[in-house]
Amino acid sequence: MGSNIFHHPNGWVGTAPWWKGAVFYQVYPASFKDSNDDGWGDIPGLISKIDYLHQLGVDVVWLSPMFESPQKDMGYDISDYQAVYPRYGTLEDVDRLIEACHSRGMKLILDLVVNHTSDQHPWFRESRSSKTNPKRDWYFWKPARYDSAGNRHPPTNWRGYFAGSTWTWDEQTQEYYLNLYGPFQPDLNWENADCRAAIYEEAMRFWLDRGIDGFRIDTVNKYSKRIDFPDAPVTCPDVPHQPAPEMWCNGPRIHEFIHEMQTQVLGPYKAVSVGELSNTPLPGQVLPYVSAAARELDMVFEFSMIRLGTGNLFHGKYIYQPFPLSVLKRHVATWQTFIEGTDGWHTVFCENHDNGRAVSRFGDDSTPKLWEASAKVIALWQVTLTGTLFLYQGQEIGMRNMPADWGIEEYKDVESLGFYNEAVESGDGKRIQDTLHGLRILARDHSRVPFQWDDSPNAGFTGAGVTPWMKVHDQYRELNVANQLKDSESVLGFYRKALSLRKEHADIFIHGAFRLLAPEEESLFMYVKESDSEVNIGGGGAKRKAVVVMNFTSHAQQYPDVSVVLGCRAGEEHLLVSTVRSGQSALASNELRPWEGRVYLNFKP
Ligand code: GLC
Ligand code: CA
Repeated sequence: MGSNIFHHPNGWVGTAPWWKGAVFYQVYPASFKDSNDDGWGDIPGLISKIDYLHQLGVDVVWLSPMFESPQKDMGYDISDYQAVYPRYGTLEDVDRLIEACHSRGMKLILDLVVNHTSDQHPWFRESRSSKTNPKRDWYFWKPARYDSAGNRHPPTNWRGYFAGSTWTWDEQTQEYYLNLYGPFQPDLNWENADCRAAIYEEAMRFWLDRGIDGFRIDTVNKYSKRIDFPDAPVTCPDVPHQPAPEMWCNGPRIHEFIHEMQTQVLGPYKAVSVGELSNTPLPGQVLPYVSAAARELDMVFEFSMIRLGTGNLFHGKYIYQPFPLSVLKRHVATWQTFIEGTDGWHTVFCENHDNGRAVSRFGDDSTPKLWEASAKVIALWQVTLTGTLFLYQGQEIGMRNMPADWGIEEYKDVESLGFYNEAVESGDGKRIQDTLHGLRILARDHSRVPFQWDDSPNAGFTGAGVTPWMKVHDQYRELNVANQLKDSESVLGFYRKALSLRKEHADIFIHGAFRLLAPEEESLFMYVKESDSEVNIGGGGAKRKAVVVMNFTSHAQQYPDVSVVLGCRAGEEHLLVSTVRSGQSALASNELRPWEGRVYLNFKP
């Protein structure tokens, strides 16, 4: 069949780097597994579940920040790059985690958060201590502006992520410092070469020397800002601070900085890198980051698809905007094809710690049946897409958003509360209701509730009687790993099977060319994946192909004859997999059950 070269362990295809075929799995340590009953997940807890991840088919664990931190943004506010937050464990625990991964042929990457530090980091404490401190220039400090009435204003009108200005006034030295996120997250000044050298040494080489395999790089496109600090145009006249991503995203020196990081640190260690690339929605802007020749990053996360449903990225983010399937398909098609004919690479993901759960956003969790069917179709969709696949903890069992009747007191995230409080302060009742509605769908909290391992009290995440840092989902007795392990046709069972099919036909699913079918159709999501290698059909050679047909509605749907797109005679297509449970009665031909997905091949699997 000529496909054997594709069946290399670790997902290699030909000479492709190992990470293209690898399955990455993101662990949010506070919520994964608590080993000592303090209500916080920890590294020993994660180690105890490495076999579970291994059996699922995970190749690389991406561990979200476990560094020393005041935890105002769940560890994305680091106060010591070389220490582990005590609730998560110790340096020795990290060493044991590296060993636990490597001894199973798996790898470990950490989160690299170096656009900003915590305001408690010694670098910032020094920087803020006086205007002449040698580290003053490691952060951005600017004098105030004053209006004609003598009122003090920040140096620019930029709005930050968590509501409010990007500038915080410092009483002691009477200047503002820049913080794109919270005031407790001052931005590092990458223009300063000593600062960059310290980042490379303390935050990167330290961990690479301990044996980690690379980094997920937080907010990677924000290291270079417009340092002439212009005001942003006023696009939202009713709010004091203006969206200004063009002032601090993809700035003039960004490619220089990332290339330097690659050549000085990542490259010499052969470390894998995946950068978080927000506010960069054009393929032409993304390619320079991931072109192999440019030597910047191996991969990036691009957010057009996962942002669907959010309102205006800045002050309107949590005013939910419904979207039709055709828009989702269009984004997928754009990002599935943008690397064609280039030396770039792409990632595939539909969840992370900054978004609501996929089954609640893109599927239908209104009944148990639809929940299961749509969670499986989401699995099928993800595993058949080109690029490196990233899963988020709990996605593999179809974890849902927090129950709709949980009040705002169950939301702990700094961003959720920032937007909620802003709505409350506006005194506008409709805005408050709309924000709460948006948070119920989109909040970062949904992905952060404790992992559901079994039906024991606290879902097996932590001990009975312990109060976990976030409330356990009401539904954990039905929706948990233990239940699904007993059932090979559960969501989890389906993920395992689908992940192995993805690797078995890596040339088609991981590396194939993508072509969207029926782009304007609002019920069916259908595409063709085509390999570079050939198969014999009726004596002639043809490219190995798959057609993926998925019903994204809760009603049965007819779909067109797939033999045509597969280039075979009617009835000669081969079913590779369907998401429905076996033993269900047959439907009329070319009909899909609610939220059913299938893959057909132009050869016999
Ligand atoms: C990234 C993280 C997010 C965090 C922010 C600030 O977007 O994914 O969780 O709040 O950076 O570090
Ligand atoms: Ca713990």
